[in-house]
Amino acid sequence: MIDKKNELFSELMLTQINVTRQQVSKATEKEIKSNLGQFFTEPRLALFMSDMFEINEPHINLLDPGAGIGILTTATITQICKKDEKPLSIHVTAVEIDETLLEHLRFSLEFCNKLCSLNNIQFTYSIIHDDFIKYGSTLLKSYTGGMYSKVILNPPYKKISSKSETRLTLREIDIETTNLYSAFVAISKKLLIPNGELVAITPRSFCNGTYFKPFRVDFLSDMNFRKIHLFNSRTDAFKDDEVLQENIIYHAVKEYEHKNVTISSSENLNEEASTHTLEYDKLVHPNDEDKFIRILRDEEDLRVKSLMEGITTSLEDLGLKVSTGKVVDFRTKENLRSAPGYDTVPLIYPVHFHKGSLEWPIFPADKPNAISLNEVTSKQLVPKGNYVLVKRFSPKEETRRIVTAIYNEEQMSAEFVGFENHLNYFHRNGQGLPLDLAKGLAIYLSSSIVDCFFRQFNGHTQVNVGDLKSLPYPPYKLLIKMGTAFDNHLPEQQEIDNIVSDLLE
Ligand SMILES: C[S@@+](CC[C@H](N)C(=O)[O-])C[C@H]1O[C@@H](n2cnc3c(N)ncnc32)[C@H](O)[C@@H]1O
Repeated sequence: MIDKKNELFSELMLTQINVTRQQVSKATEKEIKSNLGQFFTEPRLALFMSDMFEINEPHINLLDPGAGIGILTTATITQICKKDEKPLSIHVTAVEIDETLLEHLRFSLEFCNKLCSLNNIQFTYSIIHDDFIKYGSTLLKSYTGGMYSKVILNPPYKKISSKSETRLTLREIDIETTNLYSAFVAISKKLLIPNGELVAITPRSFCNGTYFKPFRVDFLSDMNFRKIHLFNSRTDAFKDDEVLQENIIYHAVKEYEHKNVTISSSENLNEEASTHTLEYDKLVHPNDEDKFIRILRDEEDLRVKSLMEGITTSLEDLGLKVSTGKVVDFRTKENLRSAPGYDTVPLIYPVHFHKGSLEWPIFPADKPNAISLNEVTSKQLVPKGNYVLVKRFSPKEETRRIVTAIYNEEQMSAEFVGFENHLNYFHRNGQGLPLDLAKGLAIYLSSSIVDCFFRQFNGHTQVNVGDLKSLPYPPYKLLIKMGTAFDNHLPEQQEIDNIVSDLLE
C-alpha cells in the first residue's frame, strides 16, 4: 500500500515540477536565461542522474548548488524513497541566486518533505538565496573538513573573466578555473566529506584543453569517476532550450582508491544505453601530466586506443610545430582585400578549404582573399612553403572533427601567405614542410582512426593547438609513405582509411 502511495505521490511531484519548469522557462527572457545559465533539467533526466548515487548512509546531507526550482533534489528524494533501505534523515541545502525562483523551490522542497514523511524519513531543508561561489568560499574558509555527503548539480555555464570578483573569490580558496560550471563542481567537491558522492551534468569541455588543466588536476586528486554517461545526440539533454553543447553526466566519489569506471552511452533518454567497464588507467593515463579524461564508449574505441598506443612519435620528434593562424581579421581591417592585387599575398580562411586542398581565390567573396603586404602585416605572415592547415572550429554538419587542407607552394605563387585566426597550421620552425610529409600528415589527421581517438578526449567542436600537439604521430618514413600514396586531392574517406590503416596495422 505504502509503495503504491509512494509511487503516485512521486509521479505527482514530478509532473507538477515539469509543468512549472515549462512555465518558468517560457516566461523567462532569453537574456536572463543566458546570463544566469538558467536551463532546467528535464525530470526524466534528473531521475536518471539521481539514480547514479550508490552509497546508502543513514543521515544524508544533500547539496543542490544552483538549485533552480529544485528538480534535481526532487528527483533524488524520489529515488531515495524507492529504496528498500531508507535513510533515517535527509537535510537538503539548496542554493539559488535568482529570487524569482525561490517560491517554486520552496514548493518543491515542501513536496519532498511530504514524501519523506510518508516514508518515515526525517526531512529538513535550508534555502540559501546567494551566489554559490560566495556561499561555498565562505564555508570553505571557515570549515575545511567537508560537510555534505551528496551533491547533485546542473550548474550554470558562463566564462569567468580573469579580473572579475568571482575569479578573485575562487583564487582565495585555491580554485583556478575559467568557467562557472567548473567552479561550481570544484567548490562542490571540496565541500564533500570523505566517501561523499557527486553527480553532475556539465559540458564535456573540461575533459581536455589547457584552460581546464588546473581543474582536472585538482578534481582528480581526490575524486574518482565511477560512472560516466554520454548522449550521442547533442541537443537531447536540453531539448526545450536548444542548448547546443556536448554534455557529460558523471558520478564521482571522494576516495583515493581507483576503481573501474562504468561508461554508458545512448542516443537519448528513450533508448537503451550500451554499457561497458573501463579500467581507470584507460580513462586517465597515469603518466599523462595534462590529465586528459578519455572516454572510450565501446569496443571500437578500445580497438582504436590500443592501435594508437602503438604509435609513439611526437610532433616534437618529427621536428614540427602547430600554431594558430596569426591574422586576426577584425584587428587589421584596413589591410584586408577581397581580391588579390600587386601589393598583396593570399589570406587563407576555412572557407577556402576544398577536399583537402584549397580553392582560392573565391568570388563572390564572403571573406577577404588577400592581405596587403607591408611592414605591419609581415609579422603575421609565413614564408612560401607547404603547410598543413586544420580548421579550429568544425561545423556540426562536418563528419570529422579534424578537417585539414594542404597549402601547396607550387599552386600559389606568392612569397608569403597569411593564415587567418580560425585555422591552425603545422610548420617547421615557422617554415614549410616537404610536400610528401605535408600530404602524409594531412591524410593521417583525416583518417577515421584519428577522428575516433580524438573524440575520446575532445567532446566539443573546437580543435585546439594543445589537442593536436597531444596526438601521437607515425614516424617520419611512414608519413612520407602515406603522403606518396595519393595525388594532390585527399581521396574519399574509405580510401583515406585504407591507406592509413594498411600502413599502421
Ligand atoms: C543550469 S540551471 C540548473 C537549475 C537546476 N539545478 C536544474 O537542474 O534544473 C543553473 C541554475 O543556477 C542558478 N545560478 C546561476 N548563477 C548562480 C550563482 N552564481 N549562484 C547560485 N545559483 C546560480 C540559475 O539561476 C539556475 O537556476
